[in-house]
Amino acid sequence: MDRPASRRRPLLGRLPVVLLALAASAPALQAQTLVRGAPGETIRTAGGMVVSEHPEASRAGAEVLAAGGNAVDAAIATGFALAVTHPSAGNIGGGGFMVIRFPDGASTALDFRERAPGAAYPEMFVGSDGEYSSEIHHRSHRAVGVPGTVAGFDKAHKLYGAMNWERLVYPSVVLAEDGFELSERLAGSLARFVERSPYEATIQAYSRDGVPYAPGDTLRQYDLAGSLRRIMLNRSDGFYRGETARLLAEEMRRGGGMITETDLMAYRARERAPIRGSYRGWEVISMPPPSSGGVAMVEMLEILEGYDMESLGHNTSRSLHLMIEAMRRAYRDRAVYLADPDYVDVPIHELTSEAHAAAQRATIDRTRASVSSPADVAVGTESFETTHYSVVDADGMAVSVTYTLEAGFGSGIVVPGAGFLLNNEMGDFNGRPGLTTETGLIGTDPNLARPGQRMLSSMTPTILARNGELAAVIGSPGGRTIINTVLQLVINLVDHRMGFPEAVEAGRIHHQWLPDRVSVEEDALSGATLEALENMGHTVVVRGRQGLAHSIWLDPLTGERVGTPDARNPDAGAAGHR
Ligand code: GLY
Repeated sequence: MDRPASRRRPLLGRLPVVLLALAASAPALQAQTLVRGAPGETIRTAGGMVVSEHPEASRAGAEVLAAGGNAVDAAIATGFALAVTHPSAGNIGGGGFMVIRFPDGASTALDFRERAPGAAYPEMFVGSDGEYSSEIHHRSHRAVGVPGTVAGFDKAHKLYGAMNWERLVYPSVVLAEDGFELSERLAGSLARFVERSPYEATIQAYSRDGVPYAPGDTLRQYDLAGSLRRIMLNRSDGFYRGETARLLAEEMRRGGGMITETDLMAYRARERAPIRGSYRGWEVISMPPPSSGGVAMVEMLEILEGYDMESLGHNTSRSLHLMIEAMRRAYRDRAVYLADPDYVDVPIHELTSEAHAAAQRATIDRTRASVSSPADVAVGTESFETTHYSVVDADGMAVSVTYTLEAGFGSGIVVPGAGFLLNNEMGDFNGRPGLTTETGLIGTDPNLARPGQRMLSSMTPTILARNGELAAVIGSPGGRTIINTVLQLVINLVDHRMGFPEAVEAGRIHHQWLPDRVSVEEDALSGATLEALENMGHTVVVRGRQGLAHSIWLDPLTGERVGTPDARNPDAGAAGHR
């Protein structure tokens, strides 16, 4: 059901003249833009390209590229569009990370991870009975961290954008107001989400007064359009101050959350030095803490560089065994050492050093699985949601973005009157000091909730270069599996010399130290390989898909950008311009 005409906000009547001119020129831009919605299909172009979870979002970014924007501009437009078309993870109420490589080979990283509110404290997830409560930790107003996405995009644009800010936000306002067609997959997931939601604003945002949308229906989000319009006109002040901030803080007060308008005004995105490593001559540029992704992946690559992975073969039991042992060790280090570097001294250099890798290799038996010991630490729960997208422009500027609400649809709380979902990222902090259990809770000190601290993440937006030239833009959602998905993309490209789409399509595995088991994508490995791993002492679990690696590869022969939406999501899409 469309919103009654009396409550509709006419879009064009409120837009500045410059935007009306942009709207008028949109068909001309579209004519230059090649859009392909089919996952698993590759598109090639010497121009710019965007690969993301939704074809409309990729198109929003590709049109910015076609109109003269650079890769950062396109990443911002795509990110705002995903906040409309991919509500389970695209967001303005969450946070994430952006890694940028410039055409001259320099690189940087932007951290717009959520932070704990000023009133946070390590025992804040303990219930009135004195016990740790998973419900409070993951599914309450207290689970919401101060959002970072809008500040991150604003900072990225101020530092490195080339195009007018309003032009980048405008496509998302139109998508929210005019709506977009729901796929079968998205209609189904919204129906399931709304059915279990206790929040009236959430039910109103994603159903017709509680009646689920059907595939093919148009989803219009007028309150979200209003929030995006405030961002379009006032940049991050349109989110962290004024009406949106007031509505968000009001919802926090109503639901027993902690975020205040002061917390929102105090939020700052940070520019950080990326993690840089090398793997058999390829340059690896990835996200530093508060994500664990770059450090853990480079640690694993350093360990694996000591073995001839190419001759061991792709997804053979012998190569997988070494990968699993590298994963086991890097994920243990992750749990022990990694957290927000503004609060904790993280030994980045040591963990990514060749000396540390050599010490780790010395503990690996090439024929027997090690045993993960939970004696000193253990790990917590982390959702498989999040979303990744990749951008390359015609000049070779590359941007890799992974951002998230944490769980699918985050906290499930839509801010009444503002139309966007809030994250439940506080769940990525450890649950309670000293509470460490074999079932997967962690109580180690570095990643406890403290005022203003950023929670540890696994997001691994990554860029690869070779001989000084851009080689690939990669990343994935998937909670803690993210780091291993990206690791396997690197190994597929470097060791097994795959191109696209093979490197993205190849079956994936995951081991995260604890619980001590290997999960394997369905149909990824032969029965004989599974048996060989078990004979080495590994516990193997076969499960569904792992990750959605919407990536771009630079064909070394032609220099073309080759975009492959990961076919694991039939809704994904790439868009490029010639
Ligand atoms: N919430 C998922 C991550 O940050 O890795």
